[in-house]
Amino acid sequence: MNMHANSAITDNRVTIISNECIGPDVSLVAFRCPEIAMHAKPGNFVNIKINPQNEPLLRRPFSIHHVEDDRVEIMAKSVGCGTNLLSRTPAGSTLQVLGPLGNSFTIDTPDYDTALLVSGGIGTAPMRFLEKALFTRGKTVHHIIGGQSGRDIQIRGLANYHIATMDGSHGYKGTSIDLLRQKYPSFSGSIKVFSCGPNPMLKALAAFCKDHELPCEASLESIMGCGIGICYGCTVELKNTFNNETSTILLCQEGPVIDAERLLF
Ligand SMILES: Cc1cc2nc3c(=O)[nH]c(=O)nc-3n(C[C@H](O)[C@H](O)[C@H](O)COP(=O)(O)OP(=O)(O)OC[C@H]3O[C@@H](n4cnc5c(N)ncnc54)[C@H](O)[C@@H]3O)c2cc1C
Ligand code: FES
Repeated sequence: MNMHANSAITDNRVTIISNECIGPDVSLVAFRCPEIAMHAKPGNFVNIKINPQNEPLLRRPFSIHHVEDDRVEIMAKSVGCGTNLLSRTPAGSTLQVLGPLGNSFTIDTPDYDTALLVSGGIGTAPMRFLEKALFTRGKTVHHIIGGQSGRDIQIRGLANYHIATMDGSHGYKGTSIDLLRQKYPSFSGSIKVFSCGPNPMLKALAAFCKDHELPCEASLESIMGCGIGICYGCTVELKNTFNNETSTILLCQEGPVIDAERLLF
């Protein structure tokens, strides 16, 4: 079903082709959906009705992790009722998937040749699709990936990554921003930063990028209901870029990717 006359958003009944546990509480769920695969851009998300019955009643949003031909993958961390159920939903089951939704990372600009992809925890989910699109545009890509411990790091399918863990069990011991500070002098070219992760990480990253005059886009999260601007469940307050005031946006419409300079936290 096409949602709007001029929109690429479709609501699709898809069949799971694989659902693999790839880490503690993290599942990689793959399904075929040519309608979404054809139009998806890095940073877009899908809104999934996990259970045709009522529990949970509302759909749950997930970043598009990977697209290959008509295959779409999401990476889901189990945190509650919907994601726990999704992790136990076997291949052959069906899901109702609405997408692609939201805006996307701004990658088609000539003002950078090196992309720094900074992510934390399950925030690495959108980075594989983004990396692939950057490579096809001839950009150099470095990942900085952080987590509490090595068990939280998801690097499958990624190239050229640097890892930081708080407990030092994998890579550099400290935060991803500490590691970025250490590695930054070794990166060359004109740099743009793309990020997704917990709010404290995004806050520290936004400050780093401001100090170094680097453009930075961040993918945010909020509680979402419809994913298409109807329920007003996803309001987020951001700084304006044109004056000293703030504006409230619907993250499912004007996000999830925003200019990190607009972050208020
Ligand atoms: C645009 C977008 C992209 C996302 N991409 C991914 C992804 O790629 N992989 C992934 O694992 N998760 C992603 N999330 C978060 C994911 O949607 C939530 O973890 C999920 O909706 C929780 O559903 P649940 O039924 O398991 O949890 P619930 O039982 O509803 O809640 C359990 C706990 O999780 C919290 N929670 C619920 N929804 C969210 C949310 N949207 N963000 C943060 N905390 C939440 C609740 O406050 C509660 O504490 C994304 C969220 C957004 C908005
Ligand atoms: S999720 Fe319903 S308006 Fe954004």
